[in-house]
Amino acid sequence: MTIKKICCIGAGYVGGPTMAVIAYKNPDIEVNIVDINADRIAAWNDEDLSNLPIYEPGLAEIVEKTRGKNLFFSTDINKAIDESEMIFISVNTPTKTYGKGKGMAADLKYVELCARNIAEVATTDKIVVEKSTLPVRTAQAIKSILHNTGNSVNFDVLSNPEFLAEGTAIQDLLSPDRVLIGGESEDAIESLAKVYGSWVDDDKILRTNVWSSELSKLTANAFLAQRISSINAISELCEKTEANVNEVARAIGMDSRIGSKFLNASIGFGGSCFQKDILNLVYIARSYNLHEVADYWEQVIVLNDHQKRRFSDHLIKTLYNTVSGKKIAMLGWAFKKDTNDTRESAAIYVADHLLSEQANVAVYDPKVEDFKVLNDLNYLNSRPEQENRELVSVHDNPYEALKDAHAVAIMTEWDEFKTYDWRSIYDNMKKPAFVFDGRNILDKSKMEEIGFEYYSIGQ
Ligand code: UDX
Ligand code: UDX
Repeated sequence: MTIKKICCIGAGYVGGPTMAVIAYKNPDIEVNIVDINADRIAAWNDEDLSNLPIYEPGLAEIVEKTRGKNLFFSTDINKAIDESEMIFISVNTPTKTYGKGKGMAADLKYVELCARNIAEVATTDKIVVEKSTLPVRTAQAIKSILHNTGNSVNFDVLSNPEFLAEGTAIQDLLSPDRVLIGGESEDAIESLAKVYGSWVDDDKILRTNVWSSELSKLTANAFLAQRISSINAISELCEKTEANVNEVARAIGMDSRIGSKFLNASIGFGGSCFQKDILNLVYIARSYNLHEVADYWEQVIVLNDHQKRRFSDHLIKTLYNTVSGKKIAMLGWAFKKDTNDTRESAAIYVADHLLSEQANVAVYDPKVEDFKVLNDLNYLNSRPEQENRELVSVHDNPYEALKDAHAVAIMTEWDEFKTYDWRSIYDNMKKPAFVFDGRNILDKSKMEEIGFEYYSIGQ
């Protein structure tokens, strides 16, 4: 089938950029992105492209070229479903916060709602593509809902997991390492392969069965996160032994069997995917009674939590065991550079720990709005919201956040932090002036030369 109209339910970090690139590379296909969140859709339709709800380098340029031509954003979900031959489900699948599998399993209620909605509305045959990361065998559930509640039209379900990383989403979409399509119907698979084929070489488009495709996404994220926990584990050992984790990472990364990527020691990984997907993998393994398998992967999370905690413990200990009433400046709130996404960011947990010790936390992030910082902290429910408001300040000028601070904690590896005037920052801080570099982005000897007490990870 040649696809003329595509609908995507979910205008988030995955749906938005992915559909923008599909529209850009397929001018003959009309792409409609729909979402229940009217504010988000309004932001996608904003004349001023700096108001798009998602910050991604290169995204605004692509939206500018396609929006209103063959890319449309709307809240009219039913119309978009009915008119399209292919429907992507790209809604969020958070970790369950209630009931069986609480804190571990993926909450599939939004995905199920989408499937029911599609079944109710569709009057012609549809290819339904799961883009949201889902536990293994979810496609089967979607299929069952579609077939049992639909208007006896034909539904083919495909799994097409997204491998883009935030901050480099457009680059990752334009030149993917691979595109994965899992499915039963060869015709449906080839229809989707053709959409990607307009810019991706066919040998990079892998066709698998549905379950391999679903499991590959969880596995890819688990392997990536495992590398970070592995190097972070070594970072703690380096701090005890005078080895330097950057030197170790370089030395092992030059082994072509290991490779050099994803070996940056840090305050711990964040983001919407790694923790959620590993917990999900652990939950699935346990539900098949594979306890050794579950324990093995769970340790990646245990180590990550430890890394965040030991960073804030070390900060408090170094500041003479008390941060009460002290101003701690935090540079960066996003879970990595070049995104305004803060989900599961290590900064949230470090700040929460410092606030429990009654520190005054002053936050600066180049792309994160101030209400998000407070929302993230309130969501943890560690103290009354009023207290968070009193203890936390969010600044749009970094030098203000840093003025009179006892210590700086670098949470995100934003490039601009490297080029700040650290000498004048030093002059305006309380002495001794401490820097805790959670991303190893500053030069230790230069910082010490200025007069800072400088601490980094694994050095
Ligand atoms: C989400 C999932 O978290 C991830 O597992 C998957 O791989 C891709 O989709 P993301 O795009 O980052 O990732 O999520 P988010 O930015 O929260 O966007 C989801 C959107 O779906 C939201 O805008 C939400 O309003 C919308 N949504 C949710 C619907 O339109 N309908 C629903 O029923 C539920
Ligand atoms: C990840 C996967 O990379 C992507 O393929 C998948 O589709 C979604 O999940 P994302 O979470 O957007 O993407 O970003 P990623 O670049 O993987 O970073 C995740 C976290 O790991 C960030 O907090 C980052 O700072 C941290 N990280 C990454 C490290 O601490 N060290 C590293 O060496 C690399």
